Amino acid sequence: MRHVAEESEDIDFIIALIYERSRIRLHEGKQALIKARLGKRMRHLGIGTLHEYCNLLRSGAGQEEITGAVDALTTNFTQFLREEEHFQFLVKHALPGLLAKGQRQFNVWSAACATGEEPFSLAMYLAEHFPLADGWDWRVLATDISTKALATARRGIYAAERIECLPVEWQRRYLQIGHGEWEGYYRIKSPLSSRVRFEQINLLGAYQQESMFEVIFCRNVMIYFDRPTQEQLVNQLSRYLVPKGYLLIGHSESLNGLAVPLNCLRPSVYQKK
Ligand SMILES: C[S@@+](CC[C@H](N)C(=O)[O-])C[C@H]1O[C@@H](n2cnc3c(N)ncnc32)[C@H](O)[C@@H]1O
Repeated sequence: MRHVAEESEDIDFIIALIYERSRIRLHEGKQALIKARLGKRMRHLGIGTLHEYCNLLRSGAGQEEITGAVDALTTNFTQFLREEEHFQFLVKHALPGLLAKGQRQFNVWSAACATGEEPFSLAMYLAEHFPLADGWDWRVLATDISTKALATARRGIYAAERIECLPVEWQRRYLQIGHGEWEGYYRIKSPLSSRVRFEQINLLGAYQQESMFEVIFCRNVMIYFDRPTQEQLVNQLSRYLVPKGYLLIGHSESLNGLAVPLNCLRPSVYQKK
């Protein structure tokens, strides 16, 4: 009994720590994921129990390991409508102010799209505000370096608990309920999924894009790079923004002090000069 209470306290401690450091809210249902991911760190450090590991994180000696724990738990983390103010900004301010009169076509890029929740959230927001049936023609390019994450994204199938944060009306409109062996899973319906194109791109490598983009989302990936690498990455991405196009980065990231051709409009929102 004491063991169960101790473990639950430790999990709460980890959830609070990750939230404090990254603003990522790991739900209690993520216990298995938390234990599996931290298990790797514990084996690496030769620690046998989660409780011992948490004691290390709580201690002065464990301050460096906090970075290891945050990395282990957040590297591929994503969710539908994460940092939702960005999607609202996109449809209410960025695109209406940017599109030339009569322009009905535009492109949005989700760079570092992980398992697809970000580009599909984008597509849902765009479908709601720029309906294809009204003659709008938009595309979402979704890229990531990870083969595994991209395979999940391309499949477009998500467990029920992952889609809970979407409005019920959107769940009905854009998701198909699985049956039989797919009970408890949902698939992105094809009119929406066909608007999202996936491609494997290393943002730090040499890549070429044929299109220009009105808006680029590059969120929660720069945090893993040093400042010179961030500067190089943002300069390279900016080449593909239309004049006055927007770059959105994660809420806990900043381009302060970097030599980039962008103006900061508000924290995490940048516009090409
Ligand atoms: C924490 S996830 C962020 C997902 C999404 N943008 C979000 O904010 O929810 C970070 C993603 O960056 C990807 N990534 C890391 N290094 C990269 C690189 N050099 N080029 C492209 N993607 C990279 C990882 O594979 C991972 O899927």
